[in-house]
Amino acid sequence: MKHFLSVQDMTAKDMIDLLEMAQSFREEEIRITKQVFAANLFFEPSTRTKSSFIIAEKKLGMESLEFNVESSSMKKGESLYDTAKTFEAIGANVLVVRHEADDWANELKDKIAIPIVNGGAGTKAHPTQSLLDADTIYQEFGTFENINIVIAGDIKHSRVAKSNAEMLTKLGANVYFTCAPDFQDKNLDYPYITMDEAVEIGDVLMLLRIQHERHNEFSSSTVNYHENFGLTIEREKRMKNHAIILHPGPVNRGVEIDSDLVECERSRIFKQMSNGVFVRMAVLTTQLLNWGIIDEYHIEKRNNNCRGQSVSNMRFAN
Ligand code: CP
Repeated sequence: MKHFLSVQDMTAKDMIDLLEMAQSFREEEIRITKQVFAANLFFEPSTRTKSSFIIAEKKLGMESLEFNVESSSMKKGESLYDTAKTFEAIGANVLVVRHEADDWANELKDKIAIPIVNGGAGTKAHPTQSLLDADTIYQEFGTFENINIVIAGDIKHSRVAKSNAEMLTKLGANVYFTCAPDFQDKNLDYPYITMDEAVEIGDVLMLLRIQHERHNEFSSSTVNYHENFGLTIEREKRMKNHAIILHPGPVNRGVEIDSDLVECERSRIFKQMSNGVFVRMAVLTTQLLNWGIIDEYHIEKRNNNCRGQSVSNMRFAN
């Protein structure tokens, strides 16, 4: 069985199936009738991802297990692997993991016999963020074909940039990067343009914060960053009429984006967060179905007494 670890493992059809399932969950509330436990193992700070997974789990009727690194036995030297194995042993049915190591999944993927969902891996991958960003773009344009998406900011240290560029390219969009010279990643084969070009050609402008926590040394690119590389009020005025602004959050207002633009008409930043709940519901449901932990008869519409007959028109990913 496949865990949900990276965009690399997914086809465009897998992604569209998940987006369609997310849409069905937006339209109709459902719940899982079997007892299912989710352990949310977050070893890095998180507001959006962790909380939206917990809300997704609760909306699905799952039980979310408490885990806090500071009060866990990791403080006594227990490893990530032994922590994950412990949750498997005590009855967790799915693990959601965020960790600062790029390749933490390699330690777990062949040895843990319950599904693992990647909630963020170092500078490398954040596939559920990519799905919610894709969801937001799909809602707006109804297609990815010929959509110009510019990812702007600290490309080198951003897991969102890498997962999003790969997912959105697979879905048919044209992906560009724009950033300060120090934040380029020469290993990524996407065209680099200037911020001034970005605002002119972008249908979607996706801003990223500077990932200071992953910088080993001071970067002169961070000086006058907003004026040189950020989305200023003046640059926003030059965006296409229909163009939208995305940001995975957390936002550093006044740095990568002017504070007044965070909630401007073309911003979809809080919409992205709302969408995150539904795509995470879709990812969790698909994993539980694919691993045989639940089947379709364990899913029913909320406020519907006809268990098992209520989901026949839903589109489940394989
Ligand atoms: N976008 C995102 O991953 O936010 P959090 O770090 O708050 O989870």
